[in-house]
Amino acid sequence: MMETTFLRPYSKVSGCDAGSSDRKVYSCVTSGPRPIDGSSAQAVVEALQRSCCEMRWNAVQTRQLPGREGIEPLRRPQEAMAEPLFDSYATAYDQALARSLAASGEGRDYFARGRIGWLSRRLGELHFKPASVLDFGCGDGFTVPLLREGLGARTAVGVDVSDESLAVARERHASESTTYTHLDVYWPAGDQDLAYCNGVFHHIPLAERARAVAIVRESLKPNGLFSLWENNPWNPATLYVMSQCEFDKDAITLSAPETRKLLRAGGFEIVCTDFRFIFPRALRMIRKLEDLLFRAPLGTQYQVLARRA
Ligand SMILES: C[S@@+](CC[C@H](N)C(=O)[O-])C[C@H]1O[C@@H](n2cnc3c(N)ncnc32)[C@H](O)[C@@H]1O
Repeated sequence: MMETTFLRPYSKVSGCDAGSSDRKVYSCVTSGPRPIDGSSAQAVVEALQRSCCEMRWNAVQTRQLPGREGIEPLRRPQEAMAEPLFDSYATAYDQALARSLAASGEGRDYFARGRIGWLSRRLGELHFKPASVLDFGCGDGFTVPLLREGLGARTAVGVDVSDESLAVARERHASESTTYTHLDVYWPAGDQDLAYCNGVFHHIPLAERARAVAIVRESLKPNGLFSLWENNPWNPATLYVMSQCEFDKDAITLSAPETRKLLRAGGFEIVCTDFRFIFPRALRMIRKLEDLLFRAPLGTQYQVLARRA
């Protein structure tokens, strides 16, 4: 049975400010309340958000938005873009990933929990307790509830460019404290304690990476932390796994020094770089060694933990 929802007033939709050009939409959805099904509500809300972002984009361009001068959204809403690669993998992402990870003997869950466990340890050392978490490039939302639970956060928001992946995320990993938003309608509000991002930047074209860093930075509170995980191109096993992965064909990897440079240029100071996941399942008896070797660039993945400067 379809979920029944009553639309909220426009002025309450994701903190948008209603403008005159959108009052028609506002009055049309508030001449109720009237029941509509969940998917229609989502579509209307996203249409409102897109329109809202367009207004704010225009305001930023013409410098009419007090306090937001000079802050450029990641890209113009609705800007022409090829269909995101991950739209075609939305429902089959799990299987495609499992095939490429097979050589490690481990599955997606092992790596996701391993990243969050390590991040949690680092945050503990810093006495940093995030109440709000952003998953930038959340894909099908698999990690979002793990992040919220594993780090003890109250809210989590997943952002992605793939509509299809976001639809899967909403279907499989929705909760009252979790939201999923398309990048086109996401406006960074400087209200997140922590941003997490895994395996995304190697899919972002080189020319767009600085703007992606900017949007993460603008999402964070002052001194907020950014946990950026990437595949380590210095490890031959990583390159092998990526060569077997259907959706990594167009990937352009980043080494840890390149990631640090990108983050520093984007207004972050580096807290630490840690390399993880050295041994496959067949060598799990010696995995404890990974906790001693994290500074050596051996792991198949690394985290650069950075603070909004
Ligand atoms: C390999 S998947 C990783 C998904 C998820 N982070 C995980 O660990 O399972 C890469 C994701 O990055 C997203 N992506 C690609 N370019 C992006 C961009 N410019 N901004 C945000 N997400 C992007 C893709 O749509 C895809 O969902």
